Amino acid sequence: MMNKRCIVTGGAGFIGSALVRLLLGETDATVLVVDKLTYAGVPESLKEVGLDPATLGSSNPRLSFLKADICDAASMDRAFFDFRPDTIFHLAAESHVDRSIDGPGEFVRTNVTGTATLLQTALAYWKTLDATAKAAFRFQHISTDEVYGSLGDEGFFTEKTPYSPHSPYSASKAASDHLVRAWHDTYGLPTLITNCSNNYGPYHFPEKLIPLVILNCLDGKPLPVYGKGANVRDWLFVEDHARALVLVNEKGVPGETYNVGGHNERTNLEVVKAICAVLDELRPRAGAPNLHAKHEDLITYVADRPGHDLRYAIDPTKLMTELGWKPRENFETGIRRTVKWYLDNEWWWRPIREKKYSGQRLGKG
Ligand SMILES: NC(=O)c1ccc[n+]([C@@H]2O[C@H](COP(=O)([O-])OP(=O)(O)OC[C@H]3O[C@@H](n4cnc5c(N)ncnc54)[C@H](O)[C@@H]3O)[C@@H](O)[C@H]2O)c1
Repeated sequence: MMNKRCIVTGGAGFIGSALVRLLLGETDATVLVVDKLTYAGVPESLKEVGLDPATLGSSNPRLSFLKADICDAASMDRAFFDFRPDTIFHLAAESHVDRSIDGPGEFVRTNVTGTATLLQTALAYWKTLDATAKAAFRFQHISTDEVYGSLGDEGFFTEKTPYSPHSPYSASKAASDHLVRAWHDTYGLPTLITNCSNNYGPYHFPEKLIPLVILNCLDGKPLPVYGKGANVRDWLFVEDHARALVLVNEKGVPGETYNVGGHNERTNLEVVKAICAVLDELRPRAGAPNLHAKHEDLITYVADRPGHDLRYAIDPTKLMTELGWKPRENFETGIRRTVKWYLDNEWWWRPIREKKYSGQRLGKG
């Protein structure tokens, strides 16, 4: 990143924190995290790179933290004009489909209005830069493959697939993608968009399928599978995603979109069973009535999510051939690393399970 100064919005979230750890651990970038710390913001995820979660102070001279809402124009103004970034990675969002079914308003506010507010601030700041800095500046927006809608049994999403979002979450992300493109096409702001598939890995908030299943297994609780568990997602290890984001930032062409996915399609039931198999090996069920009890025995089928998209699958050819990205993990290696991480890091997830979210069903509509 060549000494770049980076703003990372949503840097206390799951993917944002992976990106910050990568930027500080493997590049010489200086980072300002801008995060409102909603229920999903976990400053403990940045402890290993020097953030004090209690005070939000940092022992790392290359890391600082601004607790602020991206909808607050005055705070965003201060962030840009005081920190003077070379680039911004915009990840702050409401991100959970089930919560968007229960309360869509916050999704429209943060994902749509928040993105527009950031674009306006970035544009005002960008206009003050000299020609070289202007040409080098990037506004990188991190989005989802869910904007493309749902696939049948065949085919893949490419960068040219028409938008067809179905949930309040994906509709709000689609709106934000359109705003980012409009700020590029109308004002010339050098933007980049990445649309990725489902991420998984360490520091994943336990409302999402993979960490929820791991932690319910450890607590001997039922493993909820929506419908018949037949919905297909294309799983991407979060550290591979973070590396893709840096690569796109460095080499991507302004105005372009890049899809990020690892060709790891699995049905939800396959995902749950894969986690159970790794846990049977690493942490066999303790105290189960039957000595040979498997974690799989905890699977419980529950009512499906309303409007549940059947299948998502990404064609990452553009990112691979034009920019040379290649994931390091496949699903088997990534899920093993993830399960091991949760086994080793109860200090991180236990307080979240006890104080923020204990696994109750969300988003029944
Ligand atoms: N997790 C996935 O599988 C996935 C897949 C595709 C795209 N994405 C996108 O990637 C981005 C990051 O996803 P994630 O899974 O890390 O999300 P997350 O929910 O774990 O983190 C979101 C972060 O944004 C912060 N935030 C929320 N509202 C804010 C506001 N108004 N102002 C400032 N900060 C705010 C939260 O405090 C949190 O730290 C999102 O834009 C999401 O749409 C995620």
